[in-house]
Amino acid sequence: MTAKIVILTGAGISAESGLGTFRDVDGLWTKYDLNDVATPEGFARNPELVMAFYNARRANAAEATPNAAHKALARLEADFPGEVFIVTQNVDGLHEAAGSRNVLHMHGALHGALCKACEHRWPAPPVMSVTDPCPHCRKPATRPDVVWFGEIPYGMHVISEALSQADVFVSIGTSGEVYPAANFVAEADHHGAHTIELNLEPSAGASGFAETRFGPATEVVPQWVADELARTQK
Ligand code: OAD
Repeated sequence: MTAKIVILTGAGISAESGLGTFRDVDGLWTKYDLNDVATPEGFARNPELVMAFYNARRANAAEATPNAAHKALARLEADFPGEVFIVTQNVDGLHEAAGSRNVLHMHGALHGALCKACEHRWPAPPVMSVTDPCPHCRKPATRPDVVWFGEIPYGMHVISEALSQADVFVSIGTSGEVYPAANFVAEADHHGAHTIELNLEPSAGASGFAETRFGPATEVVPQWVADELARTQK
């Protein structure tokens, strides 16, 4: 059976590409109330505000480039003699821009648009508006194709299956504050995976990992990838 590495990533992996995290000192949730911009109720109350929030984030993400951590994970996928599966909570496209192919966006993506009325999906224009008609049903029911608090993340069955088969589970740049992602380490551990946290500092769930390495993602991720590839080539 081929070895399988499952990697969960969060905002910390994109921090050094210039994209803000949520809960750090200068994070997005210190400037915005997540109830206003990241819930279906917030969108119902003030859709223009929510669209403006995601339009700004889409513009930032469009200018960002992958850093050494994203590139190291793409190299791992190319060179590891088994499967590498990235489950990201990030809505940017930096893993794909770095060359990773096996990526699941459990919280959706900024480059997607979704029709609330008929659930049709299409590529988001750089600037989305609440009055944009759905190209399929023509109703002005456009929203960003991102997962908000209170909604079910994408791909949960696929993720659970992958966690149950993982030999190694790695969590990178995530605070461990948001479920269900925060529970993945326990799920992987339960099925016998070796669990590793790579983060700037210990996350809320750090004690649940068998191995931890702390430092900026652009340093600890390439180092871990080099160690993992060296280990498999012995
Ligand atoms: P957070 O902002 O909660 O956590 C970011 C983590 O990255 C923290 O643990 C930081 O210590 C770490 N970090 C910061 N800079 C780093 C660096 N240069 N290198 C490595 N680590 C670094 O972001 P997430 O855990 O991704 O959901 O947040 C999870 C979810 O909460 C998001 O997907 C979003 C948010 O609300 C929704 O909007 C639904």
